[in-house]
Amino acid sequence: AKPMGGDLARAAFAPVGPNKRDAVTVPRGFDHSVVISWGDRVVAGAPRFDAYAQTPEAAKTQFGYNCDYVGVLPLPGKGGKGGQQYGYLARDFDRALLVVNHEYTDENLMFPTGVYTADQVKAIAMASHGMSVVQIKRAEVDGDWLPVSDLRRARYNRRLHIDTTFVVDGPAAGDERLRTSADPTGTKVLGTLNNCAGGTTPWGTVLSGEENFNQYFDAPDGLDERYTAQYARYGISGKGKGWNTVDPRFDLSAEPHEPHRFGWIVEVDPFDPDSAPRKHTMLGRFKHEGANVVIAENGRAVAYMGDDERGDYLYKFVSAGTFDDAGSERAKRRNLRLLSAGTLYVARLTGDGAEDGVSDGTGEWIPLCSDTESFVEGMSVADVLLFTRLAADKVAPTRMDRPEDVEPNLVNGKVYAALTNNSNRGAAALPTDEPNPVGSSMVRASLGAPLTQASGNRNGYVLEMTPGRGGHAGTTFTWDLMLVCGDPAAQETYFAGFDKSQVSPISCPDNVTFSDDGSLWISTDGNVLGSNDGVFRVPTSGPDRGKVEQFVTVPRGAEACGPLVTDRNRSLFFAVQHPGEADTATFEAPQSTWPHTDDFPRPSVVVAFRRA
Ligand code: FEO
Ligand code: CA
Ligand code: CA
Ligand code: CA
Repeated sequence: AKPMGGDLARAAFAPVGPNKRDAVTVPRGFDHSVVISWGDRVVAGAPRFDAYAQTPEAAKTQFGYNCDYVGVLPLPGKGGKGGQQYGYLARDFDRALLVVNHEYTDENLMFPTGVYTADQVKAIAMASHGMSVVQIKRAEVDGDWLPVSDLRRARYNRRLHIDTTFVVDGPAAGDERLRTSADPTGTKVLGTLNNCAGGTTPWGTVLSGEENFNQYFDAPDGLDERYTAQYARYGISGKGKGWNTVDPRFDLSAEPHEPHRFGWIVEVDPFDPDSAPRKHTMLGRFKHEGANVVIAENGRAVAYMGDDERGDYLYKFVSAGTFDDAGSERAKRRNLRLLSAGTLYVARLTGDGAEDGVSDGTGEWIPLCSDTESFVEGMSVADVLLFTRLAADKVAPTRMDRPEDVEPNLVNGKVYAALTNNSNRGAAALPTDEPNPVGSSMVRASLGAPLTQASGNRNGYVLEMTPGRGGHAGTTFTWDLMLVCGDPAAQETYFAGFDKSQVSPISCPDNVTFSDDGSLWISTDGNVLGSNDGVFRVPTSGPDRGKVEQFVTVPRGAEACGPLVTDRNRSLFFAVQHPGEADTATFEAPQSTWPHTDDFPRPSVVVAFRRA
């Protein structure tokens, strides 16, 4: 088909090649701009960013560090449909809300040495976590967007940070094991941490996953022995970032329940700036990458989720109530209750044998609990929800290679999961199987170096799941590994059967999204083929199914995340997270200074579009 003007989904382009540039690179004929960067003012009254005069108070009003999830929710107006549309299907709109996660901080890259005390560094880093809501508007060039600069007119702008009150929702709210000395009710948590990916719901809210929350707690006087097994399964070791010297609730010896208040899916209503964001216990507690909702054939809201750990599981939630599509305030209030009651499942995948030459088979969703009933022997509903990993362990789900984004494709009804990598796969404790077939990978030490063999699954997969009877709300599916990532010259790679000589090398898929033609867009984190990370387009149907083409590379040390194709496919939003990150990085000698506004790097949200 002839490419439409500005349509990134249907455009023919010469893929960007592997490179180590300290730049965002897009194909010839396309352009990009930085929408917002770490430190930019978000709420009225925020001071201008000054790397040498940072304070926690300022950070709580400025764009946070290490942007990950990117949501764009159209604001009502000319042609806009408000929050009732899926972001990428929304048609014409000129104003929108950009909702972004701030996953974690890199203190080496944030602070000049010798300027701040250790406790100042901690307090500012703590305040640089969370989420931002930023009003954006259409820029002059088609497909380009920029923030509303007069913050007094940006009434939706909001910074959710370490002191923001989150309400605990669902069956486990108020459980004794969620109570702390500051919150004897177990229903109000200050802050959200390590927010990685997320999703925009059909009712116009944003879901955000609290992922590696285990790293923030110290136990100077030892760990509470009541929770030895639970802490261990969640990687809570009591060796944290020393935040306990700034805020005693991060002292695990004194507040053994504080970590139980993280590891949830958070729901934020960006259209209601005064609303309290919620932590949904019904969606279970693990290292949540994100959650993406689709309305099932029977009207129920189904959230797909991944637990990003080597050998951990894929999950889904099916609501008890049904989606109200009336678009009214009353409908929205009903929809805001959908994630509070329903059933939580974990996935088991079975292969149909290697003789057919492809990794594929059948799968089932095993129920763990509903809001009123546990299906796991010896565990209550609250036990299952608070310690979901331990519950799942008892029902023999399939141990996967780090499930990241899991997202339904509204065009073809299938569900796509990024399985980013697993260095342990193939070891005695984690043998290969048909859903996880790679135990030895071809990698490259640097750009241009030869491919060499490394143990484990280093380049990752994209899993495609097709719901069976009952659709998204049902309990069976079929599956196939649509992509076995890596250098196409490596024998183990597979691109849905597409000609390997015509695809871009791809390594470590992390986030997935779709343009409205059903094509899959993938961002990567941790390329082991010698190149910077980036964003890729791959059709999911037709003769080009499996044709992976690289559309973006991000600067040195960065991962690409949160891709979102919106505005009639004219805009590709993505986050450039942790540019310059490396073991040896310092503020004085970073390997990246992107976006080149300063002599140190600044994580930023970018939009790519066709050149005017
Ligand atoms: Fe924060 Fe699973 O990546
Ligand atoms: Ca097979
Ligand atoms: Ca991620
Ligand atoms: Ca990641």
